[in-house]
Amino acid sequence: MINVAVLGYGTIGSGVVEVLNMNQEIVKRNAGQEVRVKYVLDLRNFPGDPIENILVHDFDTILNDPEVDIVVEVMGGTTPAYEYVKAALLAGKNVCTSNKALVAAHGPELIQIAREKNINFLFEASVGGGIPIIRPILRSLNVDNFYEITGILNGTTNYILTKMYNEGGSFEEALKEAQDLGYAERDPSADVDGFDAARKIAILSSLMYGKNLNYEDLSVEGIRKISTADIDYAKSLGMKIKLLAITYNVAGEIYSEVAPHMIDSNNSLYGVDDVKNGIQLKGNLLGDTMFYGSGAGKLPTASAVVSDVIDEAKHLNTNIPIIWETENVKLAERGKHESKFFIRVDKDFAEIKNTFDLEQLITLEQYPDEYAIVTSKMTFADFYEKIGNREHIRSIIQVK
Ligand code: HSE
Repeated sequence: MINVAVLGYGTIGSGVVEVLNMNQEIVKRNAGQEVRVKYVLDLRNFPGDPIENILVHDFDTILNDPEVDIVVEVMGGTTPAYEYVKAALLAGKNVCTSNKALVAAHGPELIQIAREKNINFLFEASVGGGIPIIRPILRSLNVDNFYEITGILNGTTNYILTKMYNEGGSFEEALKEAQDLGYAERDPSADVDGFDAARKIAILSSLMYGKNLNYEDLSVEGIRKISTADIDYAKSLGMKIKLLAITYNVAGEIYSEVAPHMIDSNNSLYGVDDVKNGIQLKGNLLGDTMFYGSGAGKLPTASAVVSDVIDEAKHLNTNIPIIWETENVKLAERGKHESKFFIRVDKDFAEIKNTFDLEQLITLEQYPDEYAIVTSKMTFADFYEKIGNREHIRSIIQVK
C-alpha cells in the first residue's frame, strides 16, 4: 500500500481526495497497489468532513512518519510550500504538485534534490490543469527542434475574454463569475495581469530547452485594458482576442512573452474558449501539434495530480529523469521581435494611419469618434519609434 499526505485541502486538495476515492480501482490497477490518503494537512478544521480523522495541522507529523511515501503539495504560493516540499524531498519522500508558482521559482533545485535522492518531484498539473503536457514534452516531444510554443494557459482570462466576446458583459462581471466557479487564483492579479500564464510558459519552455527560462525575464501584459470596443473591432476583423503565452526559438535566439493577441479562425487556438486551455507546438519534424482540454477546475486538475501519484507509486525509488538546468536562458531583446499591431486612435489623429504600412483601416458606426488600423509585420523597435507620443491612442494589441 502507498501512503499519501495531501498538503492543502482547498479546491485541488479536496479534488485529489475525491479522485482517489472515486476512481480507487483504476488508480490501484495503474499504480500496482492500493493508494491511501493517510494525512491531510490544513490550518483549518473541517467538522463533519470525511477527512476529519486524518486532518493534521503540523507538517512535522507527515515529515516524521516513515510510512508516508508521497507528499502531494496543493497549497499554492511558495510560502510555506517551498519549505515543506524541500524538507519532504530531503527526507526521501516523493513529491508531486500542481503549484506553478513553486515550480517556476524553484523547479531546477527541487528536481536536482529528487535526482540526488533517487526519488521524484513531478508537476504535471502545474501547466494546463488536466491536460497532459509535461509528460508528453519529457517523453515524446524530445526529438524535434521546437521553434514555437504558443499557449492559452490561463483558464480564468480565457473564460473572461470568451464571456466578453459572446455576451458583451463587463470585465469585472466576468472576473467575478470566474472566481465564483473556482478558476481564479487567490489573488486575481496573477490571472488577469498575466503572471500565472508567464509562470506556465516559463515551465514549458524550460523543459523544452533544458535550461531555466526565468519567468521574471518575460515581457508580461494582461487583459485588464481589453475593452468592449476592442472586442467589437476584433469581431469586425473576424478575429478573437486571446491571452497568449508564447516562446519563439529563432535559430537559437529565444524570445518569450505573455500578451493579448488578436487571432483569426485559421489559428488552431481560435476555438479554445471558456476555461479551456490549448497549447500549440511547432516542431521542425512534427509540424504543428496541439493539446487541448480543461486548464483549470477541481477534478481535471486533481486528475493530473493523481497521474503523478501513480507515476511516483510505480517509481518509488527510481528517479524519472527531468532535464531542467539552473542556468538561465538569455532571452532575445524585444525590439528585434516582429508582430503586426492593431491600433485604435482618436478620429482627428490622422498621423497614425499616415505613418504605418497598413493592412487594414477600420471604422465602426458605433464608435464614430475613432478609427483603427492593423499594421503590416514590423519589429517592436520600429513600432516604438513610429508610434511616438501615445496621447491619442486608445489601445494597442498584437495581431498574430
Ligand atoms: N487560475 C488558474 C487558471 C488555475 O485560471 O488557469 C489553473 O492553473
